[in-house]
Amino acid sequence: MELHLSIFVPLLLSAANGANGGKILVWYTDGSHWINIRPVLEMLIDRGHQVVVLAPNTSMFMNSSEPSRLHYEPFNVSVSMETKQKLIKEFLHFSMYEVGHMGYFQIYNRFSNFMRTNMNYFLKFLDGVVKSETLMKKLKQGNYDLLFADPINPGSDLTADILGIPLIFSLRFSLAHNWERMCGQLPAPPSFVPGAMSKLTDKMNFSERLFNVLFYALLDITSQHFVWKELDKYYSEIKGHPKTKAFITHGGTNGIYEAIYHGVPIVGIPMFGDQPDNMVHMEAKGAALTVKLNTMTPESLIDAVDTVINDVS
Ligand SMILES: *[C@@H]1O[C@H](CO)[C@@H](O)[C@H](O)[C@H]1NC(C)=O
Ligand SMILES: *[C@@H]1O[C@H](CO)[C@@H](O)[C@H](O)[C@H]1NC(C)=O
Ligand SMILES: *[C@@H]1O[C@H](CO)[C@@H](O)[C@H](O)[C@H]1NC(C)=O
Ligand SMILES: *[C@@H]1O[C@H](CO)[C@@H](O)[C@H](O)[C@H]1NC(C)=O
Repeated sequence: MELHLSIFVPLLLSAANGANGGKILVWYTDGSHWINIRPVLEMLIDRGHQVVVLAPNTSMFMNSSEPSRLHYEPFNVSVSMETKQKLIKEFLHFSMYEVGHMGYFQIYNRFSNFMRTNMNYFLKFLDGVVKSETLMKKLKQGNYDLLFADPINPGSDLTADILGIPLIFSLRFSLAHNWERMCGQLPAPPSFVPGAMSKLTDKMNFSERLFNVLFYALLDITSQHFVWKELDKYYSEIKGHPKTKAFITHGGTNGIYEAIYHGVPIVGIPMFGDQPDNMVHMEAKGAALTVKLNTMTPESLIDAVDTVINDVS
């Protein structure tokens, strides 16, 4: 964190120098991640920014009732403190006493179980934010300038997207630098850059380099399965909300793919390019109705929307 902070803080502060204070929303985090991010927040306050931290009611280190210069935006989480502590305890026991006596396959099995359970809890925390109508309404009305997040707890990207504000990450590391490489486009050739948590240094002999290549590959697959796939599913459920009954579109390819994915019927008002063609194809499949832009009236649009919602075909 030290190196990262030392780069990040001057950058952010110099950007803020002389400007009016901004309103910064901070993503929840806990443990050492909270210890690390807190001094950054204190400094942002010193520089005249308003800092509001999302604080779950289940937290080891964050306490929204404590007197503080930070403002807190509390939210409720259905995971109890005991459940969370039990997982941490089991993981510590596994890392300190069990790993040494296990084969690779066993380690992988246990580790992926931990990842799965952990992701489950992460998503319950995220539920507390994005599925709380009260909170999301409040955040929208808050008119924040940006969301500042340690991405260890997922969902800050989704939330920033819903709120329509920029996002800044402060990340110590991810397993085998998966996020840095995949999301940050950080060049990290495995022959030179030892994967985080591989216990390798930057001086690797041939067999260690080979191990590092396999380590990257294995953790990329694991992350894809236990992190990205789960998050994609969650995100598209939130964005493709079950309350969406119909999709009114110009008939572009991307929107049509999303509608097909979520099984939402389409009312298309095609304009140019592939749009008229796309709508003809969707109509032929019984998934859409087309309304002509030049002859469209409020009634014809309402009729079309009514028809795609109510006519089961
Ligand atoms: C949070 O802070 C309040 C006020 O200082 C204190 O009464 C309370 O015990 C704290 N809660 C926890 C869980 O530490
Ligand atoms: C959290 O729960 C309390 C008590 O059940 C409720 O008053 C409060 O509105 C909830 N907060 C959010 C953000 O939903
Ligand atoms: C947090 O909020 C949830 C939902 O309102 C509630 O069930 C739970 O008991 C709360 N936890 C704590 C530690 O207050
Ligand atoms: C590479 O280094 C490791 C750790 O120092 C050592 O155990 C291993 O024998 C070395 N392999 C080769 C091929 O030199």
